[in-house]
Amino acid sequence: MNIYNADDSRYNSMKYNFCGNSGLKLSAISLGLWHNFGGVDQFLNMQSLIFRSFDLGITHFDLANNYGPPPGSAEENFGKILAQDLSRYRDELIISSKAGYDMWPGPYGDFGSKKYLISSLDQSLKRLGLDYVDIFYHHRPDPKTPLEETMGALAQIVRQGKALYVGLSNYSAEQTEKAAKILQSMNIHCLIHQPKYSMFERWVEDDLLKVLKKQGIGCIPFSPLAQGLLTDKYLNGIPENSRAAKETGFLQKTEITNEKIFKIKALNTIANDREQTLSQLAIAWILRHEEITTVLVGASKVSQIENNVAALKNLTLSKNELDKIENILKG
Ligand SMILES: NC(=O)c1ccc[n+]([C@@H]2O[C@H](COP(=O)([O-])OP(=O)(O)OC[C@H]3O[C@@H](n4cnc5c(N)ncnc54)[C@H](OP(=O)(O)O)[C@@H]3O)[C@@H](O)[C@H]2O)c1
Repeated sequence: MNIYNADDSRYNSMKYNFCGNSGLKLSAISLGLWHNFGGVDQFLNMQSLIFRSFDLGITHFDLANNYGPPPGSAEENFGKILAQDLSRYRDELIISSKAGYDMWPGPYGDFGSKKYLISSLDQSLKRLGLDYVDIFYHHRPDPKTPLEETMGALAQIVRQGKALYVGLSNYSAEQTEKAAKILQSMNIHCLIHQPKYSMFERWVEDDLLKVLKKQGIGCIPFSPLAQGLLTDKYLNGIPENSRAAKETGFLQKTEITNEKIFKIKALNTIANDREQTLSQLAIAWILRHEEITTVLVGASKVSQIENNVAALKNLTLSKNELDKIENILKG
């Protein structure tokens, strides 16, 4: 068996940004393990994706209790890679997990009760083979559990040392502000928010980014490439092995409409004029906000990670380019 040795030059070109007003820096690109790390996927490919990411300076790997399929298997596979190849790099890694979606049967395996969050993180730590995660998120708001209970569970998790920091995902601007204040009242800072944000999904621009800035909370947008739509992948149909073609993929073929393809083609022209790929343009466009700490991409191939990291070589967007993008997106 080959032993993995990280590239000595791994910190030479990646950018690291402070997460909100905390002292924690995150790599400007992070890798998410929602797809391509499940029991249905190839272990050797997972290793390659993690190794290449780390060699390129990506320090942040994002998981959740339910990533797979089957649920839990992404944490198991990442735990195996950590134990086999990365244990000596543990202190160079920021590993996150979450709970909030349906995970096990009965009333305690879903949403936001203290019972669910504490038990779920204990399960995640076992699957990952870790004593603690760096960031633990509540994955989605729970309309039925008092916010004080859910935030109390996050505070308890930090005090127990099972997570160093806590975050929120899919919370509205208003819910985020309330939750952050409850955490503050317990002397816990809300480190980060994980919202869906891309050129095709822009709700965060209304109020969320303002709240994050005011509260000193970092931001890590998920699905920044709209699950692959904001790349050159679907310009000429649906290729084999793409997320939209896979049975276990979350991208529905019905989302690839003619209207979207028209926009993707126009955006692709702007990207090419900048000597970039569309995914690189989509990443630069997100990182234009000072509130954004890191962009959370997914990948099925090493070449995609290389391509996405290379976006950092040209992050400047002119007013003219931004206006053209705006016109395409609104058109
Ligand atoms: N908090 C939440 O509720 C939530 C929800 C969803 C996701 N997330 C997190 O966000 C992460 C990223 O989400 P995502 O996977 O949807 O992100 P994404 O970056 O929008 O999509 C990733 C997919 O785009 C394609 N791709 C990526 N780079 C490419 C490139 N350079 N050229 C061509 N195609 C490229 C690949 O598709 P193919 O597989 O087709 O090759 C890849 O699997 C997840 O892994 C997870 O950690 C969080």
